[in-house]
Amino acid sequence: MRIIVENTYEMLSLKIAKDIVVTVKNKPNSLICIAGGHTPQKVCEYLINSEKTGKVDFSQCFFVSLDEWVGLDINTVGSCVETLYTSFFNHISTPSKQIRFFNGKAKDLSLEIKEMKEFISSHKTIDLILLGIGMNGHVGFNEPNIDPEQDFIVVPLDPITKEVSAKYFDKTVDVKEGISLGMKIILESKNIMLMANGIHKADIMKESIEGTISNKIPASLLRKNTNLSVYLDILASSKLSKE
Ligand code: PGA
Repeated sequence: MRIIVENTYEMLSLKIAKDIVVTVKNKPNSLICIAGGHTPQKVCEYLINSEKTGKVDFSQCFFVSLDEWVGLDINTVGSCVETLYTSFFNHISTPSKQIRFFNGKAKDLSLEIKEMKEFISSHKTIDLILLGIGMNGHVGFNEPNIDPEQDFIVVPLDPITKEVSAKYFDKTVDVKEGISLGMKIILESKNIMLMANGIHKADIMKESIEGTISNKIPASLLRKNTNLSVYLDILASSKLSKE
């Protein structure tokens, strides 16, 4: 595990964007997954700027979704897919046929999972995944006490996730379940980036990085992957032991 600490959210986001650019330069047709929460938003801004200034070319990349609220699709402002199209995909050169997201409104979620499985399998594995962390330690919708052996999941949302969900939407949206890449697929990714900023994430980052590896704190399971890089701003890192 590598831990990278930067003073500010902006500096942290810039560092991550630069590391993603290196991945894309090394493998232009990388399969990339970026979380749809608020944490990676500044990274997306920097990535758009990198392409605009000729530092990277996303036209051959593939993107896959991490998760989605069941019952929502791109027409709901604040859904994962809407967030990422608005803040990222609409501004880069990747053709939409190279972007595969969960449709949370699909009638048959098992078919949705089957298609996602085929999409990822056709690339063998995810090259790079940029994750945020929930206040309860979730990654994607791998909620506390998740079965880490599952490759895809449809799960009831943890009460903390439901409570926090209000921040994403401009109206009341009643979310009960999530569809997500499971821990197994996430752990198989070649390069895992876990990103957190702000003092409100300090306790959960300490538990995730220094506590017992346990499915009670799903993010702690990421430590099983030797290619885990943890990116923190100074506030999110503030509870870590100093050595
Ligand atoms: P956030 O969400 O990036 O909006 O803080 C993180 C998460 O719940 O995974």
